[in-house]
Amino acid sequence: MSDAVSVSVMETHPFAAAPAGSPTLESLPVEPLLTSEFDVNPGGVYERLRSMYGPVAPVGLMGVPVWLVLDYREVLEVLRNDSVWRRDVRHWRARAEGRLPQDWPLLAGYEVRQTMFFDDDEHRHARLTYHSAMRPFQDGHSPEGWELRAAVAKYADELIAMLAAESGTSGFADLAAQYTRPLLLMVTTKLFGCPVELGDEMVMDLWRMLDGGPDAGPATGRALGAMTRLAAHRRSRPGEDLTSYMLLADPSLSDEQLGRELFMNAVYLNDITGNMVCNTLLEVLRGNATVRRSLSAGQIGETVNRAALANPPSANLCFRFAARDVRLGNFWIRGGDIVSPSVAAAHRDLIAAGSSHIVDSAVSTRAHLAWGAGPHQCPSAARELAGTIVSTAVGRVFEHFARAELTLPPDQLPWRAGPVVRGLRLLPVRYELSAHSAAVRVPPARGSDDVAAPAEAVPLRQPSRLLGALRRLMFGGRKGD
Ligand code: HEM
Repeated sequence: MSDAVSVSVMETHPFAAAPAGSPTLESLPVEPLLTSEFDVNPGGVYERLRSMYGPVAPVGLMGVPVWLVLDYREVLEVLRNDSVWRRDVRHWRARAEGRLPQDWPLLAGYEVRQTMFFDDDEHRHARLTYHSAMRPFQDGHSPEGWELRAAVAKYADELIAMLAAESGTSGFADLAAQYTRPLLLMVTTKLFGCPVELGDEMVMDLWRMLDGGPDAGPATGRALGAMTRLAAHRRSRPGEDLTSYMLLADPSLSDEQLGRELFMNAVYLNDITGNMVCNTLLEVLRGNATVRRSLSAGQIGETVNRAALANPPSANLCFRFAARDVRLGNFWIRGGDIVSPSVAAAHRDLIAAGSSHIVDSAVSTRAHLAWGAGPHQCPSAARELAGTIVSTAVGRVFEHFARAELTLPPDQLPWRAGPVVRGLRLLPVRYELSAHSAAVRVPPARGSDDVAAPAEAVPLRQPSRLLGALRRLMFGGRKGD
């Protein structure tokens, strides 16, 4: 960890005002964060910023100056202390003063008011709703939890069977596009209780939104609309799904507000959980010895922790806005300033602070911040659910595959550009299915003469209707998908 941490005087002068003459965010020269260097090596950029500025650095984010929090201790402070570091975008001075570029691409998401951007009582109330609505899915002891877990494994098996059907028992696959992303969309459809028609519409727009680009804004609006209609549908026809349980937990939720909550959950469930799956698969495939060891010892949870430490899927968490002047790192942050806590940078700091300790110990990997920390931390039920989905998704791959290797050197894998998500565009592998995989079946010998003939493996299962519909949407209907 940087020595500069020691000059942080946050605790000793909690209510001091910034001394006159101390530099403001607007007065500092900032370098843009999102460069081609950042695309290729974000860790190197974090290190350079840390060596230049200490635990907190001023950066430009698509033309807007932002404080980027880099060191573990400072990130934890920002995440935990929600009376100083507020979530509601209305605390942001530059926004309130109308100084933001009109089309600043990151603003649209922050204008969707939902739990993540609530403070105080409104936030506490919303957390209770989540706690109650997610409880049935939290573990496998309830019928809903058991059914969801069984569905994840079944969908995973179907997707691998489809690979076998398309590419054979050995061949090439993109485990991001052909496995992880459809799997998470299927899980979302099931968990949210989407009727197929609504599911189709939602999936189309989530894809456009998650891929970003010029259509992302309108797609966000359409996805919100679809979620709002889903909320209305489930209000009139409740089922055993998260949408219905949210309404049961808080009947005062309007369709619009529930739609906003589902929208945010859909992002976590699809994009963030999907990236956790891919990043874990990558850690195993790239031959990280410790990860392989923990996987072969049957400790998938530990494998996921190690992958989260190396590549947290939410690299930089939601912005916070300072409630008042406060010292952080080597700077005075002014009331109303925007701050971006970087989990990815904090993890590098943590690893640098005690690499042998972290890498060799099974316990210390839990210090990772991939779930966040403090009052806005990912709710425990969501964490358990996501952990199960990731473990099952990763576990099924290595259950079915006898061999899998990356077809690109790890340093040439294409990562998505952007400040928030650490996610792969592709995860290309050459695979060989295990002879014991249920994704293939070996036809029975036809007679004694045939016994020595090489058995030809053929796909065991046909894809379900849901899988077929999703694949048509994802690969059949849109240019560039
Ligand atoms: C591996 C998958 C996941 C990861 C890594 C993850 C991570 C996180 C993180 C880091 C936060 C806090 C963000 C911040 O403080 O800025 C968060 C919040 C949240 N997550 Fe998760 N999440 C995952 C899956 C899920 C799933 C599957 C759901 C729901 C189905 C979910 C629901 C939520 C909710 C409701 C919040 C907001 C909590 C609040 O603001 O009080 N997450 N998640």
